[in-house]
Amino acid sequence: MALLDIIKAPDPRLKKISRPVEKVDAEIAQLMDDMLETMYLAPGVGLSAPQVGILKRVIVVDVSKDEDNRLPVRMANPEIVWASDEMFEYEEGCLSLPEHYAEISRPEKVRIRYLDRQNEIREMETEGLLAVCLQHEMDHLDGILFVDHISKLKRDTILRKLAKLKKLEEKERRKSGSRQKAAASA
Ligand code: NI
Repeated sequence: MALLDIIKAPDPRLKKISRPVEKVDAEIAQLMDDMLETMYLAPGVGLSAPQVGILKRVIVVDVSKDEDNRLPVRMANPEIVWASDEMFEYEEGCLSLPEHYAEISRPEKVRIRYLDRQNEIREMETEGLLAVCLQHEMDHLDGILFVDHISKLKRDTILRKLAKLKKLEEKERRKSGSRQKAAASA
């Protein structure tokens, strides 16, 4: 198992469309497991492959929030085959947009067709938080972030704050990098 780096917005890689996987082979199964480990540590309830820089249609979700009773979901090439007319509103966040949240409205129930870890075609009917999470992760595969569901004004405000934070972190990294170099050369 390996921990993966989560890409933070704004980043052009988060706006790309991911490619379907041909088959869930050992490499994709390993990616699913690594993504889950990364997600649990973050901690988060869902993660998509593009968020770790891999443009493949792979997502993982676990809404159990119980370390002793985990309910991991691993999906490749997920597709919504049915969605309810009833909508469900939930305050969403995202590991790629840390510390920002917004109320998003999505279909309350969805049926999803996907490939599981054993490369079997499966269908899952979900509702509530699990349905929200799966739809949020599937959005990532098409380069859509939760802020793309809110007004441009709110979206721009959030992205501007994140860009500022990124610059600050970059500056800090450079500073500590030069300190380390100075110490090593002393
Ligand atoms: Ni997300």
